[in-house]
Amino acid sequence: MKKIKHFLDLDQIKAQELRSILDLSKSYKQGITSGQDTHKGKTLGLIFEKPSTRTRVSFEIAMYQLGGNVTILEHEKTHLGRGETISDTAKVLARYIDIIVYRTSSAKKLYELAEHSTVPVINGLNDETHPCQIIADIMTFEENVGIINNKIITWCGDFNNVCKSWIQASTIFNFKMHLACPKQLINEYEMNKIGKIKNVKIFNVSKDACKNADCISTDTWFSMGQKVSEKKRRLLKPFQVNNKLLSSAKKNSIFMHCLPAHRGEEIDENILEHPKSVVWQEAENRLHTQKAILNWCLKK
Ligand code: CP
Ligand code: NVA
Repeated sequence: MKKIKHFLDLDQIKAQELRSILDLSKSYKQGITSGQDTHKGKTLGLIFEKPSTRTRVSFEIAMYQLGGNVTILEHEKTHLGRGETISDTAKVLARYIDIIVYRTSSAKKLYELAEHSTVPVINGLNDETHPCQIIADIMTFEENVGIINNKIITWCGDFNNVCKSWIQASTIFNFKMHLACPKQLINEYEMNKIGKIKNVKIFNVSKDACKNADCISTDTWFSMGQKVSEKKRRLLKPFQVNNKLLSSAKKNSIFMHCLPAHRGEEIDENILEHPKSVVWQEAENRLHTQKAILNWCLKK
């Protein structure tokens, strides 16, 4: 029996496969591959247990533009939201739909759904990782700066799901990751894990982490579902991305943010409009990369 191609985490997929997803994304964007009718008659199911604008809409439009259909399952309006097991849900859904995008808090639930599903499952974000975002980010980086291999990506801010997927990508695509993040926010297990990755270096001062950087990236200080705390806000304040920090990176460097942004917290006012900012292009690329991810999963 052929292996089902789930898109769960970057470290579960071979580098050359991820590179082929990036190549296809580029060709969708350039219109070389139209994709029309590619997935005619196929249906994408979107299960969201957390809010979403970009991931949900880009997957929806991507599937329509590839000729397929979409069904959205609002978590609280399904039986999954009132206790039906993940495995029963997976077995039933696979009888109606061809591919699932799942956004949930729990990585365990995502992997459980994939284990019991006979159709591909895509990680639409969980508390640990956000791999689809990083595919779009690498595409955006390479459009603006060039091939990511050996470049320096600086992450300023919370040690969160987006950051962890960046770290996974650093070993796959062989680039350097400078982490400007309060050490108090990284638990012992994660610290040990990072310690073993030669591409990742932790900095106490964000300006030092940004020196020679080809890209500075950040994200919210309080991810969905996290408690807002003044203590964490105080810890993160020195890691805010501002004009001065962007100037301390390489001349041709870029600024990225997966969005949604919180002005006055992880970014200073007007940073999204800074000449180095490519955030709208980054958001657009979610659409092109989602098409390539859908295609990779559904390709026989
Ligand atoms: N960046 C991102 O995944 O945004 P949404 O939460 O709007 O999907
Ligand atoms: N770290 C953020 C990403 C949002 C796209 C969150 O999980 O809320």
